[in-house]
Amino acid sequence: MFEKRIACIGAGYVGGPTMAMIAMKCPQYKVTVVDVNEARIKAWQTDDLPIYEPGLLEVVQAARGRNLFFSTDINAAIRESEIIFVSVNTPTKTFGEGAGKAADLQYWEKVAREILRESESPKIVVEKSTLPVKTAQTMENILNANDRNIRFDVVSNPEFLAEGTAVKDLLSPDRVLIGSRETPEGLKARQAIVDIYANWVPTERIITSNVWSSELSKLVANAFLAQRISSINSISALCEKTDASVAEVSRAVGMDARIGGRFLNAGVGFGGSCFRKDILNLVYICEGYHLYEVARYWQSVLEMNEYQETRFVRNMVRSMFNTIVGKRIALFGFAFKADTGDTRESPAIHVAKKLLDEKAELVISDPKALDNARIDLAGCGGGIDYVEDPYEAARGVHAVAVLTEWDLYRKLDWGRIYGSMEKPAFVFDGRNILDTRKLFEIGFNVYPLGRPPLKHF
Ligand code: NAD
Ligand code: UDX
Repeated sequence: MFEKRIACIGAGYVGGPTMAMIAMKCPQYKVTVVDVNEARIKAWQTDDLPIYEPGLLEVVQAARGRNLFFSTDINAAIRESEIIFVSVNTPTKTFGEGAGKAADLQYWEKVAREILRESESPKIVVEKSTLPVKTAQTMENILNANDRNIRFDVVSNPEFLAEGTAVKDLLSPDRVLIGSRETPEGLKARQAIVDIYANWVPTERIITSNVWSSELSKLVANAFLAQRISSINSISALCEKTDASVAEVSRAVGMDARIGGRFLNAGVGFGGSCFRKDILNLVYICEGYHLYEVARYWQSVLEMNEYQETRFVRNMVRSMFNTIVGKRIALFGFAFKADTGDTRESPAIHVAKKLLDEKAELVISDPKALDNARIDLAGCGGGIDYVEDPYEAARGVHAVAVLTEWDLYRKLDWGRIYGSMEKPAFVFDGRNILDTRKLFEIGFNVYPLGRPPLKHF
């Protein structure tokens, strides 16, 4: 009764939302999302979804049980589907050749072998995970090494959604990119994927390319986005020395239509599961082709990010009279950005660890990320409390550091917070979201990012 059956292997931050959107927009397709992680699959079957993403529950509820299914029966999903999206994790390799840079493709390869083993009919296999350029070749080599005469076409369809805005990004993407071999079979497979998105994405936003360009474009898009942040973060350091304001510089620079205003917010550093790993991967690929100058160029984007995180903590220690031993410090926000509970590569992890090295005591506060924060900081030693309510978290602390741009921190009663803190009271605004003048007038010593501090001594 369904026109097509689609499977997605990997029910994470990408697989879950992407497939939920496809299912909602295409009731004629059966969409089954599978994962080895039983707890994750169970959570997708309830209204307590495994990830926090604004608007996602409504999308899931619109299709779940109708044409959207979550299951751990990976083999059954492979067998019955004509199209298989693969959205497993591709983290940075931590061992062996390429450790610390290359993408770890073990999950990806395992899935390829499972598809090969279970398939009884031709399949289109879609690379949804972010992969090194030329991975489709490996995938094809594995899949087509079968003596059962089953045809597999590998298509690249990288995902560009950002966490926190995934639903909006999926509903109305800037573009959908689909890369394939330019053979008759490859073009047919490409069209099958175009047909899915054409159910709701305007055709001019669905772009196609050869498979290698598609794989590489994903790495390059992330590298460019991160490069903008590192560029403005480098300037934030200069602004603090020169009485310039990085927000004003950013606005003036971004109004040049050739530059554009987005992704120019200076902050404590970029986090998230993608930027660092994808740039490391790009660097590794360039080195593999002996393009050392190119590799160094992109490596410097990561170095600037590490500098920014380190600089932020150094600034805190220096401002608080060169010692924070035994001082309680509240971290407002632990997620790597607002509107997500995800803490992967969050700058807050690095800041927290460095503050603990300086023997500070920490109170971690976040509306959605405390469970992940506990996991990230497990075994770090030192005194750490986890308190969701920011007013409670700030009671008796010497300093508050804002590390995630949650809207709620803008709206707090900072006078009340000041009243409950040790004096002199410090605020370090790692995201430039607070009204610094107002805080200064309340009595705080305020350290915004990319602007000289406002202090009472
Ligand atoms: P994730 O870790 O949240 O999800 C991956 C899932 O794959 C996990 O639930 C894991 O259990 C499952 N998995 C691993 N091996 C499996 C196997 N053999 N069989 C079945 N399931 C298996 O990762 P994610 O954030 O969704 O990222 C997935 C991919 O998408 C990565 O390549 C990432 O680079 C890319 N990507 C992520 C984002 C993002 O915002 N998170 C955006 C664009 C692209
Ligand atoms: C990113 C890409 O934006 C997305 O297209 C890709 O598919 C996955 O990787 P994500 O990591 O989810 O998405 O979030 P993003 O909004 O890009 O933010 C990444 C980090 O950069 C966050 O820590 C954020 O706080 C930081 N950031 C972003 C800045 O510091 N300044 C900015 O101006 C923008």
